[in-house]
Amino acid sequence: MQLPVPALLCLLGCCRLRGAEARRYESELTVPNGGPWGSWGPQQLCPSGYAKGFQLKVQSFQGFWLFGDDTALNGVRLLCTDGTVIESSVGGWGNWTEAQLCSSNKLVSFSLRVERWQYLRDNTAVNNVRFACSNGTQLEGWGLLGGHFGPWSSNCTSGAICGLQTKVEKPQGKWDDTALNDMRVFCCE
Ligand SMILES: *[C@@H]1O[C@H](CO)[C@@H](O)[C@H](O)[C@H]1NC(C)=O
Ligand SMILES: *[C@@H]1O[C@H](CO)[C@@H](O)[C@H](O)[C@H]1NC(C)=O
Ligand SMILES: *[C@@H]1O[C@H](CO)[C@@H](O)[C@H](O)[C@H]1NC(C)=O
Repeated sequence: MQLPVPALLCLLGCCRLRGAEARRYESELTVPNGGPWGSWGPQQLCPSGYAKGFQLKVQSFQGFWLFGDDTALNGVRLLCTDGTVIESSVGGWGNWTEAQLCSSNKLVSFSLRVERWQYLRDNTAVNNVRFACSNGTQLEGWGLLGGHFGPWSSNCTSGAICGLQTKVEKPQGKWDDTALNDMRVFCCE
């Protein structure tokens, strides 16, 4: 059997190495107020450069609980300086907002607006995200208003944000859905 060279490399286990480990990140930034539900999606890094902007996937208000099950934030995308758009796990509801950009500078920290657990009521977990640009300007996403913004993550110590990982709850059928629950980002030199 004749295999093309790329297929051979895959058999030898080099594919992952060539793809995912082409880039290393220097540090990871987290916030303490993420929601408890869901599981972490894959780590995604800009192939080169940094993140200069973002988009959110937002499900608009569905009406009062028992009439509609709200999930609020479903996804976060980073727009990289090399033109790539990256995302980790994304929920199935909602629509992507327009891009919000730091123009000539980059993203260096973030904070999450999270609704804490609603006893016997509709839970939504993360409602909105804000990012800080390297020049100090803060960009607040076009998410929803449930809950409160928690503390900012640390700033990238050198370089800027170059990747993300999101924690999303799978659809719960007739039970309460929350979609996006937490996020961490990565800094590159
Ligand atoms: C949002 O996306 C849904 C499909 O997921 C679509 O049916 C709907 O028209 C979109 N809404 C807007 C305002 O674009
Ligand atoms: C920082 O960047 C933002 C986003 O591009 C811009 O709107 C703002 O004017 C800049 N602020 C300063 C002080 O340069
Ligand atoms: C991050 O940088 C901003 C402005 O450059 C500063 O105001 C803020 O205190 C820094 N945050 C932390 C956690 O050090």
